[in-house]
Amino acid sequence: MRCCSSVVFKKVRVMGLYTLLVTLLCTVVLPVLLLLAAVKLWQVLVIRGLDPSCTSPLPPGTMGLPFIGETLQLILQRRKFLRMKRQKYGFIYKTHLFGNPTVRVMGAENVRQILLGEHKLVAVQWPASVRTILGSDTLSNVHGSLHRNKKKAILKAFSRDALEHYIPLIQEEVRCAVTDWMERDAPVLVYPEMKRLMFRIAMRILLGFEPEQIKRDEQELVEAFEEMIKNLFSLPIDVPFSGLYRGLKARNFIHAKIEENIRKKIQDGDNENEPKYKDALQQLIENSRRSDEPLSMQAMKEAATELLFGGHETTASTATSLVMFLGLNPEVIQRIREELEEKQEVSSMYLPERALNMELLEHLKYTGCVIKETLRINPPVPGGFRVALKTFELNGYQIPKGWNVIYSICDTHDVADIFPHKEEFQPERFMAKGLEDSSRFNYIPFGGGARMCVGKEFAKMLLKIFLVELTQHCNWTLSNGPPTMKTGPTVYPVDNLPTKFCRYVSN
Ligand code: HEM
Repeated sequence: MRCCSSVVFKKVRVMGLYTLLVTLLCTVVLPVLLLLAAVKLWQVLVIRGLDPSCTSPLPPGTMGLPFIGETLQLILQRRKFLRMKRQKYGFIYKTHLFGNPTVRVMGAENVRQILLGEHKLVAVQWPASVRTILGSDTLSNVHGSLHRNKKKAILKAFSRDALEHYIPLIQEEVRCAVTDWMERDAPVLVYPEMKRLMFRIAMRILLGFEPEQIKRDEQELVEAFEEMIKNLFSLPIDVPFSGLYRGLKARNFIHAKIEENIRKKIQDGDNENEPKYKDALQQLIENSRRSDEPLSMQAMKEAATELLFGGHETTASTATSLVMFLGLNPEVIQRIREELEEKQEVSSMYLPERALNMELLEHLKYTGCVIKETLRINPPVPGGFRVALKTFELNGYQIPKGWNVIYSICDTHDVADIFPHKEEFQPERFMAKGLEDSSRFNYIPFGGGARMCVGKEFAKMLLKIFLVELTQHCNWTLSNGPPTMKTGPTVYPVDNLPTKFCRYVSN
């Protein structure tokens, strides 16, 4: 009897162990094996894109998880993820981002080939979510002659003559904002304030909005823009609550507001109400009227949204970095003041009531170098997206046709050995003769080649006016000291840079 019960007990124990093993196999081992098999299959599938006619290998790197690739790591860990990749794989590596196999490229020589290879080796192609939200008719998404014509039309709004017209308006907006900051008791959150200021300037100059219209719609539009930009780089899945869905909802709100303005402009054009100067949107509308294929209302709304996007996020990010670097380097503020005083004294340039003009701005070389150095350390656009039009070789690696190519601006600045002590803020490095030439493709805050930023001259002028106004009227102290910077669609301080501004009186 005893012997029989011990046999039964043993059998139960074996069965228990067996059940435990099966449960373990089904709940842990099998899913892990399935996941590993899926990852392997994914790698094989992706690497099937390799072009057999090219003998060079694919760049080193990993493709991440099936379908999502390494997108989430990039979004969540940005700087850490990119630094780790560069240390592990060097200046060219493969990855899978935003739904596409991608090669990330940095370093002057590699980037030069990508930027000058536009239309031959590569063509601009932003991720699907960016194309869907911004629209496929925008300057940054069109190609060939359409791109050339559109760019020519927009560039008319940034000729030297046109820029001269914008100066008083920019000065007025900046002075008004600076006065407001100095009157506040509590520290000013610089980054959100800069976004508002640059948004107002872009609305007035690029889209020709009236100040009352801006006052009425500013808050709602700034919030919608923030929501749109936050979701610009998402997985291309349009279902309720997804990033793309939220981005499109915000975009539709912005479009509705812009449409009112476009209709007014078209009406004014019909009534032949000739404005004093033509803003960028006006130039586009007129160009479209003259062309054989006039732009649709949708295309005009997309173009206006792109200008507003390109024109305010980038300049707001740079203006914030300027406040930060100058707050940490007060001797630079002093040099800017001295330069302005010296140039203003030249009688031919004398202007009443601290007014500015293009000639004076062009003479402010050191002030220009402060902006250049800021754009070197904190370039607001981290890089550009391209697609390979054919399989080609880059530095011994194969870039297969159809793969995405991202050229990195921030990494290229970071690895450029023409900038000694690269982590130090030294505007005078740009005063050195010859650096301008040797820095070509080592220094690319505005990109290069056919896709060079259309708003470059406008942005440089706007930032110079901003610096002059700021340093002429105030001193400031960063409440939290040096901030931690984060990179989203542009670079910004995590704490928004709380800063106390007070009046500066020159003696
Ligand atoms: C500090 C300010 C700015 C920086 C650093 C900057 C940077 C850049 C970069 C790097 C590109 C090239 C992207 C690529 O290669 O794909 C670009 C293109 C572009 N930018 Fe800017 N930008 C600035 C200001 C502006 C302003 C003020 C505007 C609006 C007027 C603007 C509108 C555009 C547009 C429409 C393109 C596309 C050009 C094309 O595809 O031909 N940007 N920008």
